[in-house]
Amino acid sequence: MKIIKYLLILLAIILVAGLSFSGFIQIRGVPTYEIEQLDYTVESTPDKLIRGEKLVSMLCKNCHYNQETNAFTGKHLSDIPTEFGKIYSQNITQDETYGIGNYTDGELLYLLRTGIKKNGQYTPPYMSKLPHMSDEDIESIIAFIRSDDPMVAAASIPSQPCEPSFLVKFLCFVAFKPLKFPESSISPPDSSNKVELGKYLVYNLECYACHSADFKTLNQMQPELSEGFLGGGNKPLDLEGNVLLTQNLTPDKETGIGNWTEQQFVRAVKYGLKEGEHALRYPMMPYVQLTDHEAQSIFSYLQTVPPIKNDVMRSGL
Ligand code: HEC
Ligand code: HEC
Repeated sequence: MKIIKYLLILLAIILVAGLSFSGFIQIRGVPTYEIEQLDYTVESTPDKLIRGEKLVSMLCKNCHYNQETNAFTGKHLSDIPTEFGKIYSQNITQDETYGIGNYTDGELLYLLRTGIKKNGQYTPPYMSKLPHMSDEDIESIIAFIRSDDPMVAAASIPSQPCEPSFLVKFLCFVAFKPLKFPESSISPPDSSNKVELGKYLVYNLECYACHSADFKTLNQMQPELSEGFLGGGNKPLDLEGNVLLTQNLTPDKETGIGNWTEQQFVRAVKYGLKEGEHALRYPMMPYVQLTDHEAQSIFSYLQTVPPIKNDVMRSGL
């Protein structure tokens, strides 16, 4: 009988510990961190603005652009899986109260590299981080979002705070951590080397994030260590909240793109078009901003990744 009593006491202790741990996570929420003040300012040039606009259109617009205001005032992100909570992108226009007018260039750089906001709070994986982007490209992004372009001109429209789920808070406690600020400068890829340029684009445009096995097992610092790297099968949502499986982009001949021609690939990536087939659907956005050389480079790089046999059925067709 004694043993049962001890077992019951042990169970009670475990239960209380478990409950207080989850209470702690719930109250603590998404963790905050110390931010490093950087001595950093971006000189805007016409070339940087053009480059920045191109990168922002491919990397930020989808989430931060609001159709009703025709500007980057943020919105509810209906395609974020509900297991992550109710997530709103923020107003990133130049407005000092509701936007990011009060961020310094250094604070923006720090956020984009590490995921830590001006107020110290970490942004969970539903906000992009750019650990592999060259210093030049990240400067161009900052120059553009600080410009007087109508997309980012001050708009005093409050954005809704995110309501991350318990799962997100828990994962931020045990797994999702801020990324390390790079110790040295990151140079741009050699654009005459197609494989190198292609790899740069696959990492920075986050093709691998959607096209690997699962958002939860991505390795952002070393993308090629992500589970099922580029083998497809991840489950992003469309705008109605339906799962749309991602396709296998490895060079496997039966289940990947091993039998595709470069031309077929460029057409699919830039315009969402496939010969005799349904157009590619959201969230696979046509990358019209890519030059043919860039899209061809992605193809060249994809030919070099280890093939994975994973027959992903196209959803709902
Ligand atoms: C997948 C959607 C998504 C993408 C892509 C994205 N963001 Fe965000 N962004 C968010 C969400 C959601 C938040 C709010 C996160 C939070 O507060 O935890 C956010 C927050 C921010 C903030 C902080 C705002 C504040 O009030 O402190 C800035 C700045 C920002 N994003 C800029 C960018 C830039 C620049 C890009 C492109 C390089 C980008 N975002 C791409 C979803 C996204
Ligand atoms: C937000 C998630 C997401 C991102 C980022 C993304 N894709 Fe996709 N991609 C998808 C989905 C989902 C499909 C399937 C669309 C469908 O079935 O209509 C797809 C389909 C494709 C296809 C067609 C494959 C086939 O077998 O039909 C190609 C090629 C492709 N993506 C390449 C890319 C490249 C290259 C990048 C980066 C520049 C990229 N994708 C970024 C989600 C994404």
